[in-house]
This record gives sequence, structure tokens and C-alpha cells, in this order.
Amino acid sequence: MNIEYRAINPEDFEEVKYFFLTHEYSWRDSDPENFVPKSEEDRIKVANKFMQELQDPKEKYHCLAAFVNDQIVGSHFLDRYKIDGKNACHIHGLWIDPEYRNKGIAKTLKLMGEDWARSKDCQLMDSNVYATNKEMISLNKSLGYEIARYNFRKEL
Ligand SMILES: CC(C)(COP(=O)(O)OP(=O)(O)OC[C@H]1O[C@@H](n2cnc3c(N)ncnc32)[C@H](O)[C@@H]1OP(=O)(O)O)[C@@H](O)C(=O)NCCC(=O)NCCS
Repeated sequence: MNIEYRAINPEDFEEVKYFFLTHEYSWRDSDPENFVPKSEEDRIKVANKFMQELQDPKEKYHCLAAFVNDQIVGSHFLDRYKIDGKNACHIHGLWIDPEYRNKGIAKTLKLMGEDWARSKDCQLMDSNVYATNKEMISLNKSLGYEIARYNFRKEL
């Protein structure tokens, strides 16, 4: 299978819009009960916003994707900011098309995200995951991620 891994082209409105649709899928697939799809109008707003953000020399955001032909089969959305006073890279979303899971695509995208974060002098990677998301927890652990904090909830 020929998979092309690359940053999305910030000058290509359709590609940016498509990337953020797959970012929605990351929420849909990791939290289906609470998922609310964006309207077409909101998707256009998001694409326009990130076309600008991704062309900003500050490079706060980074959008990596895995392509098979013209189809995005994996997406990884990263953002840089300070966490605990350190330069950090937060992972907003990671999604792999269900037909392409368990082939190492997420692992490759995560390692590419770490390379980008290192190149921007980030000292740590940061991400949140539902306690029920066994696949993501297993992937994080296999790549050396450690639990930094717990989020406690109680049904009332
Ligand atoms: C979680 C997700 C990104 C994994 O993508 P993937 O491409 O299938 O993962 P990879 O093939 O790169 O797997 C790498 C590692 O992840 C873990 N893993 C992936 N799928 C797994 C599964 N079904 N069961 C157990 N571990 C799994 C393993 O540690 C695996 O390492 P191994 O291949 O050496 O066993 C994918 O299932 C997904 O898109 N889920 C829906 C969206 C989501 O939950 N995103 C994360 C939100 S925080």
C-alpha cells in the first residue's frame, strides 16, 4: 500500500477543509455519544481560519495527514503553547480511517508530530484521551507517554 505522509497544503482551501472534516471524525469516533457535526458554514469558517493560521510564520499549528491517492486516511492536528511553564505541543486530534487501522499509520503520524515539535524546541508532548479508549492508551504507552493527571467524574 502506497501511503504518502505530509503536512497539508495551507494554500489549498479544499485540502484544509477536508483535513478538518477528518479532525471532526476524530471526535466522532472517540466520543460518539457527544459528537455534534459542524454545519457546512462552520466548516468553511474553520478552513478559512486555518488557511491563515497555517501560513503564519509563527507556526503555532501543524496539520499532518496520511494520503492514499487523494483520500485522507489519517490526520494529526497539533498546536504549540506553554504547559507548566514549558514549551509544549498539544495534540488536538488523531484519526485513522477505520479501513486503515492497525497498520502503524497513527504511530507514524505521532512520530512525525514529535519530530515537528522537537524542531520547534518543544520540551513535551501533551494529549488527552478517554479512559475507555484502549487503542489510544496502548499507542501512547508504547511511544513512551506517561499519565500526567487524572480527570475524575461521578454520575449524579
Ligand atoms: C487510536 C487510533 C488513532 C489508532 O490508529 P492506528 O493507525 O490503528 O494505530 P497503529 O496501527 O499505529 O497502532 C500502533 C499501536 O497502537 C496500539 N493499538 C492500535 N490499535 C489497537 C487495538 N485495536 N488494540 C490494542 N492496541 C492497539 C498498539 O500499541 C499498536 O502497536 P502495535 O502495532 O505494535 O501492536 C485509531 O484507532 C483511531 O483513529 N481511533 C478513533 C479516533 C481516536 O480515538 N483518536 C484518538 C483520540 S485521543
